[in-house]
Amino acid sequence: MNNKYLIEAYNKEDWLFNLNDGTEEVHQFTMPEGPRMKNECSDTIYQKGDHVNYHIHEKGCETFYIAKGSVEVTVRGKRCVITEGDILHLPPNTAHGFTYLEDGTVWRELFHDIDMAGGTINKNRIKDNYPGMYEEPEFRAWYLDRIKNFPREEPVHVKIIGKEEMREVRPQGFGFSTFVFDKAVFKQKVGRWETDNVHEIWLAEMERGVRIDWNRPYDESNLFFVAKGAVTFNILGEEFTARADSIVHIPKFTKFSIIVQENGTQVFDYGCTARMLDLLEDYDALISGDPHYFDDDKVRERFLHKYDCYITGPISFIPTVNNRIKTDVKLRLNSMACHLFFDFMRQRAAEAGKKYMQDETGRIF
Ligand SMILES: [Fe+2]
Repeated sequence: MNNKYLIEAYNKEDWLFNLNDGTEEVHQFTMPEGPRMKNECSDTIYQKGDHVNYHIHEKGCETFYIAKGSVEVTVRGKRCVITEGDILHLPPNTAHGFTYLEDGTVWRELFHDIDMAGGTINKNRIKDNYPGMYEEPEFRAWYLDRIKNFPREEPVHVKIIGKEEMREVRPQGFGFSTFVFDKAVFKQKVGRWETDNVHEIWLAEMERGVRIDWNRPYDESNLFFVAKGAVTFNILGEEFTARADSIVHIPKFTKFSIIVQENGTQVFDYGCTARMLDLLEDYDALISGDPHYFDDDKVRERFLHKYDCYITGPISFIPTVNNRIKTDVKLRLNSMACHLFFDFMRQRAAEAGKKYMQDETGRIF
């Protein structure tokens, strides 16, 4: 066990529990939270040839990250293969079925409005207490109806497409919008419009030394997933470094900061309740109209809160001494720090004709 915040995906001691759901193994990292049952996160390990029948959820969202292996996915009658680093996001009423193509495929799952762990526990309870009953078609149909799982016929005439053509797939590198800064790139992987307003998912690709603080109490928990590199978290004074295949779960009303330790670090903000896309677009609109709009810290703070963003202070780079990152906040020299976020954008906005926000196609925002 590392600590109460850090969950290393392949460290048994960090799992809440381990479920065996037939052929596949479920490693439970976090349980559903709050009325929308959000931030439920787990790994399911599948073997080659494992198959999930074509079905629909009338309620809830499923987001899958391929941490290892490859999967043939059938979604709304179309089929493609997704591989390591890709994301599949399925809003309610999106028909889907899967065939796993490699032994040890790791399907990193994020749910809301579903309670997947509760469902697996119930299924095992039925199997233990009433042997054979779960396999009876009539009982099965009743059970699936109760959990709003609508089984579908396996599609016969399937259209094979490239994964880039399937709108539910977010290939590695994809972003609905991409915001490019000097030391960080933010890519939106899942939009608020796809989660019934529950959250957004962003990938932050950051260079060594980027520091971000959340020192103001607020009523949302955080769920980060480190896909590459290393990032040091300081949570209420407890400091630890999260590396690839780690999940960091931070409860509500808990102040924390992050410092990126390696170039090319990739951190997914899985539980992003801030209206990040709106924030970044509106920031651009305001700063384009008046480069000094955010000069006043109070104005900036009010702006952030309007979008449920509780970052405190500028996002900055920490000066390095002898090529070593200094993590002590006292060593942060503002005069030396290159302010990444607002200050950087302000500077860029002032430089006429320079791009500072662009999407995958080069469109400038
Ligand atoms: Fe499903």
